[in-house]
Amino acid sequence: MAGRDGFVMKKLKPLIIGDLEIKVPIVQGGMGVKISTASLASAVANCGGAGTLASVGLGDDRQENRADYPKASREGLIYEIRQTKKSTKGIFGVNIMVALSNYEDLVSTTVKQGVDFIVSGAGLPLRLPELTEGTKIKLIPIVSSARAADIIIKTWQRRYNRIPDAIVVEGPLAGGHLGFKYEDIMSRKTDLLENITKDVITLVKNLGLKIPVIAGGGIYDGTRIADFLKLGASGVQIATPFVTTFECSVPDNFKELYLTAKEEDILIIASPVGMPGRALRTKFIDGVMKGEKRPISCNYICLKTCDPHTAPYCIAEAMFNAAIGDLDNAIVFTGAVPPKIKRIISVNELMDTLVNGALEGLNTNGSQEHLFTVKELADYLKMQPITIYKHAEQGKLPSFKVGASWRFKKATIDKWIEEQEKTRYNDAK
Ligand SMILES: Cc1cc2nc3c(=O)[nH]c(=O)nc-3n(C[C@H](O)[C@H](O)[C@H](O)COP(=O)(O)O)c2cc1C
Repeated sequence: MAGRDGFVMKKLKPLIIGDLEIKVPIVQGGMGVKISTASLASAVANCGGAGTLASVGLGDDRQENRADYPKASREGLIYEIRQTKKSTKGIFGVNIMVALSNYEDLVSTTVKQGVDFIVSGAGLPLRLPELTEGTKIKLIPIVSSARAADIIIKTWQRRYNRIPDAIVVEGPLAGGHLGFKYEDIMSRKTDLLENITKDVITLVKNLGLKIPVIAGGGIYDGTRIADFLKLGASGVQIATPFVTTFECSVPDNFKELYLTAKEEDILIIASPVGMPGRALRTKFIDGVMKGEKRPISCNYICLKTCDPHTAPYCIAEAMFNAAIGDLDNAIVFTGAVPPKIKRIISVNELMDTLVNGALEGLNTNGSQEHLFTVKELADYLKMQPITIYKHAEQGKLPSFKVGASWRFKKATIDKWIEEQEKTRYNDAK
């Protein structure tokens, strides 16, 4: 929308992935076990973002299911996809971790059920195009370095003559498993998400490709979203802030742990997946950190990398325990931002806050620049608030809308006053 004096309001551009148009460029990150289920994914999709179901461990941990874990997981996934379809016409996909031993099964189940996209990380999804051949499902690898993106793109081009439909870049502040070395995270030697995102954007450009790059990990407000859009990302992936929404299906004590977490409660653990993970302090984690071992009785190895004889605990069981609220015996994964989260809100409120913050961020030069409200501008210009409001509504003042409210950039208002004075002076001559 162009106002007077060439003032152009910057809008949030939709995230375009092939023929998918995600109106709000926010992808809700997949969260297992049983954290991002149908209720969360559909609520995000209904707000114009992209919802993501996490496919890991969707079979209930009942004795009869343990007998055929892949079948229980498959049925759980089918149930969640159908529930999501019943609740939204919006865009949603499934997150499938390469490290899972039933990876192929989960991919083919997702393909058969039909969703908009598959996001795949925790390993390099090199065979994903082969497993989804002949479908329109968008394929979105998750990477934590430009090198990993390069390997995936070139392998897919060489083997399958195709490229990813989008790439998610996950930085060191993300939740769940992290694509960095344990020592590098602990010594803070990992690169910033900003730098890795820029590297991946540059790589994509240098290869002559047009692939939307989506940045994720530690993004919790609109200002951060705007920062990543300004540096060239086409969207963001956000997970942790969605845990503390009404629609997230985890029990209340799980959400409470997020709300009460302090910096020192956020720990990096070595996971049997073979990658470090970020988790909140629980009795269980304290024990693990002290070197306590919990014997594993496993008749099915759910992770390609897990050796039940040497693994100190069963991560699947610890994550099931989290999902049912038995937190003393649980691993509760998290990102780095719980200390910033103050209360449980609806997905709608969270999305609105993120979008409005992003709009403010896009229309200012970072958080330092002050935006006037109607009342503040009225004081500044010594006019009645109603007059300011009317002028804004009629496009007579350079302004833009954040939600239902008008905002005014100080620098643009000052320039506008100067031009008004100039016109008056010229008219009077
Ligand atoms: C509780 C939790 C569980 C997660 N589970 C998965 C998962 O199953 N698969 C996956 O690829 N990523 C998983 N992630 C990573 C998210 O999808 C997301 O990319 C990342 O957390 C973004 O950072 P943020 O949480 O700071 O927004 C998980 C994250 C959290 C917080």
